[in-house]
Amino acid sequence: MNALAARRRHPAAIAILLMLGLLVTGFAYAAVAPQQATAESSTAQDVTAGKKLFQANCASCHGVNAEGRATGNGDKIAGPALAGVGAAAVDFQMGTGRMPMRAPGLQAQRGDVQFTQDEIDKVGAYIASLAPGPAVPSEEDVDPAKGDPAKGGELFRVNCAMCHNFAGSGGALTRGKYAPSLMGVESKHIFEAMESGPQSMPVFNDGNIAPEDKRDIIAFLKSVEDTPQQGGHALGALGPVTEGWFAWFFGLGLLVAAAVWLGQKSA
Ligand code: HEC
Ligand code: HEC
Repeated sequence: MNALAARRRHPAAIAILLMLGLLVTGFAYAAVAPQQATAESSTAQDVTAGKKLFQANCASCHGVNAEGRATGNGDKIAGPALAGVGAAAVDFQMGTGRMPMRAPGLQAQRGDVQFTQDEIDKVGAYIASLAPGPAVPSEEDVDPAKGDPAKGGELFRVNCAMCHNFAGSGGALTRGKYAPSLMGVESKHIFEAMESGPQSMPVFNDGNIAPEDKRDIIAFLKSVEDTPQQGGHALGALGPVTEGWFAWFFGLGLLVAAAVWLGQKSA
């Protein structure tokens, strides 16, 4: 009979086992329970902290409660109401440095990001607390490796190319506005732009373009970024035809100019 078996028969064995069991359960509970409590209270704290950040940096244009402000009665600054735009719009606008908008203008410009991701998340939590709206996508939602670039290319040509050009290199719109180049834009910001439709861009909700299709579009844009451009200036990558025409017009133009110049010299 070995030592362990002998101890198992000891009258105190059951009591010790019970104590051990209680201790393990107690510790396990202690490890789990308080974490849940902090997770919940930190969201409420996030909203409060986000509201403070908002009132200090955004309320001058968007109103103290994000209700929006119109220009008029001597006010030069204005911004739209933000209830319902969701955390996605906030993450996009602040994460691309468009907000806080520096000066009133035709179009909020991309710029240096002025807040940490943590602060942006808090402002997003505050705006999302006002009314439900699109949430910030998960990493999986925007992972280009999980998307199909060929299908994304088709969707892009149908839905986006008229403003952003076939290769996503951007283009001019009416009244001095423009659709920016999409090269180098972070995957999650591409997703959020489709969800929120910044400025004159339309909203592409999940009914128009399903989340997986959005990921395909991201995969397409990232594949364009990774394709090396051959032969110097890309000319918007409209293909050999435009590039050929360019050579004809400018090349021929140069030859004609040279001929005229030579003709004048000899005369
Ligand atoms: C100088 C004024 C100004 C300030 C300051 C400002 N905004 Fe804006 N904001 C605007 C205007 C104007 C628009 C709409 C025009 C545009 O998007 O080009 C806008 C648009 C937005 C949108 C997009 C709304 C939508 O429908 O998708 C969000 C989100 C936003 N602002 C958040 C913020 C946040 C958050 C801050 C503070 C960190 C902020 N803004 C500071 C003027 C401002
Ligand atoms: C009607 C024209 C129009 C269409 C169609 C359109 N966009 Fe846009 N897009 C814009 C404009 C204008 C902006 C700039 C908004 C701003 O300055 O606030 C923009 C901005 C963006 C940005 C932000 C780029 C940056 O610099 O941060 C992304 C990403 C984007 N669009 C993706 C798309 C995708 C993907 C589609 C198709 C599903 C699409 N857009 C369709 C006009 C358009």
